[in-house]
Amino acid sequence: MATAVAPANIAFIKYWGMRDPEHILPYNSSISMNLDACLTTTTVLFDPALDTDEITLTWYQQVPHPATGRPRERVGAHLDRLRQLAGVDTRARVTSQNNFPADAGIASSAAGFAALTLATAAALNLDLDTTTLSRLARRSGSGSACRSIPDGFVEWYNGNDQKSIAVTIAPPEHWDLADIVAVVDMQPKKIGSAENHRLASTSPYFGTRLYEVQQRLDTVRQAIAQRDLTLLGTMIEADTISMHVVCMTQTPPSIYWDSGTLAVMHAIRAWRDEGLESYFTMDAGANVHVICAASDQHDVQQRLERLSAVQFTLVNRPGPGARLIPETS
Ligand code: PMV
Repeated sequence: MATAVAPANIAFIKYWGMRDPEHILPYNSSISMNLDACLTTTTVLFDPALDTDEITLTWYQQVPHPATGRPRERVGAHLDRLRQLAGVDTRARVTSQNNFPADAGIASSAAGFAALTLATAAALNLDLDTTTLSRLARRSGSGSACRSIPDGFVEWYNGNDQKSIAVTIAPPEHWDLADIVAVVDMQPKKIGSAENHRLASTSPYFGTRLYEVQQRLDTVRQAIAQRDLTLLGTMIEADTISMHVVCMTQTPPSIYWDSGTLAVMHAIRAWRDEGLESYFTMDAGANVHVICAASDQHDVQQRLERLSAVQFTLVNRPGPGARLIPETS
């Protein structure tokens, strides 16, 4: 038995479009920051008395429920992948809980599958290094889970199955940033990222995105190395707009933003004009991640909470990757 906790991560340069759906390989490298306060905690117990895997999920502010349908299949398939590696067939009892809304563009699958990967490997006594854990987390189906394994600021390399792993490019303490998630919609999104990854290449703008993203990756690496918020912010806004434009122009089109998303985007631009520096980025959902210096966190958070579109905020700093929790009993 083992328990692991893993963070959600926010992509500064997005993974959007799947080049190889079997191995979950992206078209482009991506860069993210692990969040210290949006976490999934997962316990895995292998029990020879079980005939089938028992998977219980506790989502944010909800009662525990057994996993069914697609989530159950995905967890089961990932357990199988690790069982095969360990050469065992024993079924498992899995309990997993999120302390933030799931399926709402806050990377709950990334946190969930990173925690599942680490807890399962430990419960099976597999002694795996961070690189191998990251590769396995990528194969879960939520590719960005590989970025929730290493600490801090992370790059996931585009490459073949062996080389497409995520590594730390700067530790969490390198840069005192804040990511304030402005929650404008708690509802689970209607179209998951997996489906849209497959459709991305149908957008006439997908080729343009892939061309531009190379330059943006270099610039974001530089912005992180030099702790240059203006440079980072300019890039992350350009990248999120590019990703969502691809999504809105694919066949059939998909739109994650709602009126609340746009209200927050406009407010951030207006506050910037007044001298308060913060930047927006959205993953596959309507909720807005607002990136600013930690010293401006209170000001930005207060202003966000005064917007009628914002239901509440979740404040994060850069955080560590997936880690095991020692058993208390
Ligand atoms: O890893 P997935 O399949 O959950 O897709 C993640 C997609 C985005 O969150 C929109 C971008 C990213 O890089 O995290």
